[in-house]
Amino acid sequence: MNYTPRQIVEELDKYIIGQAKAKRAVAIALRNRYRRSRLPKELREEITPKNIIMRGPTGVGKTEIARRLARLVKAPFIKIEATKYTEVGYVGRDVESMIRDLVEVSVRMVKDEQAHEVEQKVAPIVEKKLVDAITDTRRASDIETNKDTVLEDLRAGKLENENIEISVLDTPKPMIAVGGPEISLGSMFDGLMPQKRKKRKMTVARAREVLTSEECDKIIDKDNVNAEAIRRAEEEGIIFIDEIDKIIGGAGGSNNQDVSREGVQRDILPIVEGSTVSTKYGNVKTDFILFIASGAFHVSNIEDMIPELQGRFPIRVELENLTKDDFKRILSETKNAVTLQYASILKVDNIDLKFTEDALDEIAEMAAAENETSENIGARRLHTIMEALLEDISFNASGDHPMLEVKVDRAYVQNAFKETKKKFDLKKFVL
Ligand SMILES: Nc1ncnc2c1ncn2[C@@H]1O[C@H](COP(=O)(O)OP(=O)(O)OP(=O)(O)O)[C@@H](O)[C@H]1O
Ligand SMILES: [Mg+2]
Repeated sequence: MNYTPRQIVEELDKYIIGQAKAKRAVAIALRNRYRRSRLPKELREEITPKNIIMRGPTGVGKTEIARRLARLVKAPFIKIEATKYTEVGYVGRDVESMIRDLVEVSVRMVKDEQAHEVEQKVAPIVEKKLVDAITDTRRASDIETNKDTVLEDLRAGKLENENIEISVLDTPKPMIAVGGPEISLGSMFDGLMPQKRKKRKMTVARAREVLTSEECDKIIDKDNVNAEAIRRAEEEGIIFIDEIDKIIGGAGGSNNQDVSREGVQRDILPIVEGSTVSTKYGNVKTDFILFIASGAFHVSNIEDMIPELQGRFPIRVELENLTKDDFKRILSETKNAVTLQYASILKVDNIDLKFTEDALDEIAEMAAAENETSENIGARRLHTIMEALLEDISFNASGDHPMLEVKVDRAYVQNAFKETKKKFDLKKFVL
């Protein structure tokens, strides 16, 4: 992860329109981690991340920025809702579970990476086991067969859907949650209990997956994986705390609810400040995890947060409301633009969807207008409009015709929303 701040912003620009300030802030925070990692150990220990609060209306890209950032640098990332947590001692999730969740993500990442590497190595073993299982299953039902032809057919991909019986590890139920911290019975007894195997029926394709993962598990050193996963969670982990404003009591008056919200803030504090949380993979230090908090802050202010917690989020960025021009760009310019998504999804059913420039203008304009007159839901409005706009085509496309070009232009959009538009104009009038 040696992206410069400029490169990070460039990458984010491919997915998120506008919000330059927020992009800069996260880019700097990320690069600072890299800079820190290059320092001598004594100095490194002194430098903690500068956590960020993103403040802005709903649907303008807060979550999306954090998510893309994590994916870009392949950092362990989780998004949590602050409102999900309750003070220690109350029913609900305790705040430490966010660290356990982060480590889970990290373990999965490291495992996937390593599995990728060893998959090639185990392929011949898996192939041999498949051949054995196929011949055994066939013979069990008195079908004559021999391994050479099976191998040939298997390699030619002819047997993928054949049902076979293989013996697989009988894995115990993974998790039990007893209110408080979760422990996995499975791993507690790892190595203590003999591993049971049991016969299961499945297709060859599925059996290949199961056997591959079993064989990979044998080669991959679990302790190494866990150690690397913990290191990554500690040094590179990003926790996105959504709806932080909802655990801040509004200005004035303190009722019971405010008190318990403040309790959650107090519980979160040590985690953000740096503490050690025990997980089933080992202890995790939270000192260098990057926290990005986000909220609309309609009724509460950042200043209403308990001061200690405020101090832990020194960087504050405002996200802008999206304009009509932004909407147009979001519709067509981003890599995951909705228009592209619908086009590729409908191509499966032989519809070649094309949007004209003026159709995009029209949709963007509608989105902006509707956000103004009814609830402002930001870019999410585009999804609701697009869904309604293409409802008819989506329903009627069946694929049993040659490729059909459908051009969506301004007239098409206006026509599709004739009825809604009338209501909408009326509403504007009444307001
Ligand atoms: N600036 C933007 N550029 C491109 N797409 C955007 C932008 N803002 C929002 N979107 C799209 O809108 C949807 C909602 O965005 P996101 O989840 O980031 O909202 P949010 O700001 O986190 O809102 P909330 O406060 O409700 O959590 C996503 O599908 C996202 O891709
Ligand atoms: Mg969000």
